[in-house]
Amino acid sequence: MEQDIQSVLYSEAQLRERVQELGRQITEDYRDRDLILVCVLKGSCVFMADLMRAIRVNAAIDFMCVSSYGAGTSTRGAVQLIKDLGTDVAGKDVLLVEDILDSGVTLSFLRDHIIRSRGPASFGICTLFDKPERRRVDVQPDYVGFVIPDAFIVGYGLDYAERYRNLPYVGILKPEVYS
Ligand code: PRP
Repeated sequence: MEQDIQSVLYSEAQLRERVQELGRQITEDYRDRDLILVCVLKGSCVFMADLMRAIRVNAAIDFMCVSSYGAGTSTRGAVQLIKDLGTDVAGKDVLLVEDILDSGVTLSFLRDHIIRSRGPASFGICTLFDKPERRRVDVQPDYVGFVIPDAFIVGYGLDYAERYRNLPYVGILKPEVYS
């Protein structure tokens, strides 16, 4: 597995520190609110597990599952909803937890779906990674862990063809692995 990694972009320690900072910020912003953290599977599972433990206000959790990439390296444009929310979030403060914001197609689909059909009191987005230069639709995240260049990254939940999610750090994949 690790022989496919060209370089480490963020170490375990760097990820830990930034996730703690995000948790502190969210704790401040969501005091006295009715927070529900919504993890977008599968890529966000590792980030969610760490972030939720860094948030020190009451928070419910739920999961959604979408798929847009298949085995490729870029969004095909059609988002498939595999698992919808299981919780009634009407009147609650939804914070969507994502691993990476790329073209924005996935998050704009989820944002529109949740706001239109579920009526939350508020809707926010927390993404660990943001690739703004790749944006194709207008999505503004409220919390960003790291703004990153347009490289194909894996680890800490992020995959290529369902592999590398269990790497504890984030690395740049060698181009020969996916080209
Ligand atoms: C990835 C990632 C985001 C989405 C971002 O999901 O987790 O949900 O792509 O890309 P976009 O901004 O271009 O839409 P993916 O479809 O790879 O599924 P996964 O979370 O199961 O890995």
